[in-house]
Amino acid sequence: MPPFTPSSVPNVRSPRFRLPADRVLNWHPDGPHVTAFNNALSVFFPVGENFFIDSVRAHARVVVPGTPLAEQVAAFCKQEAFHSREHELYNDALRPYLPVAATEGLLGVVLGFFKRVSWALCLSGTVGLEHMTSTLGATLVMDAPHTEGVEPHFEALWKWHALEECEHKAVRCCFRKCGCARRPRQAFLYPHRTPHTLPAGGVRRI
Ligand SMILES: [Fe+2]
Ligand SMILES: [Fe+2]
Repeated sequence: MPPFTPSSVPNVRSPRFRLPADRVLNWHPDGPHVTAFNNALSVFFPVGENFFIDSVRAHARVVVPGTPLAEQVAAFCKQEAFHSREHELYNDALRPYLPVAATEGLLGVVLGFFKRVSWALCLSGTVGLEHMTSTLGATLVMDAPHTEGVEPHFEALWKWHALEECEHKAVRCCFRKCGCARRPRQAFLYPHRTPHTLPAGGVRRI
């Protein structure tokens, strides 16, 4: 797997974690409530990440090919697709214990509604949610005690996902310029400004 280095274009990695299914309910040493919180997050990821990819790709027409933004969009989509792949396998181990299919179905209905209403709104929501996942990821990466004693396969998966979400902190600021940043109605969905904003190159004015 390539090293994690600061970059405005995410590195695309495709690791395989092969999580031990018999540890899916007790992989965190701080107790079942911590495991359950993270397991619940995992259930939402595949459908949610596919929504992020769809929302970004829906704005492909405003991204100038060959620019850093085009590279960022492509790398972002690949990273999220690999996250989904690994969390689908994770969630397969959860299916005997949690209503994974029902939750995914409900989430799909909700997100499908937003897709029919407005792709700009979807992109705006994606930017806001990416802010949250990158903040959660940074917390996990910087607060090492959170991962002490964690089952190693689960630890590797969550650290990989957390680090790549940190890379999305820079990319989401570019997405904001793609198609909905100038629409005041959606401004409420934007998180507060961070110092990670990148130059606005690569966006077509349409
Ligand atoms: Fe992700
Ligand atoms: Fe992300």
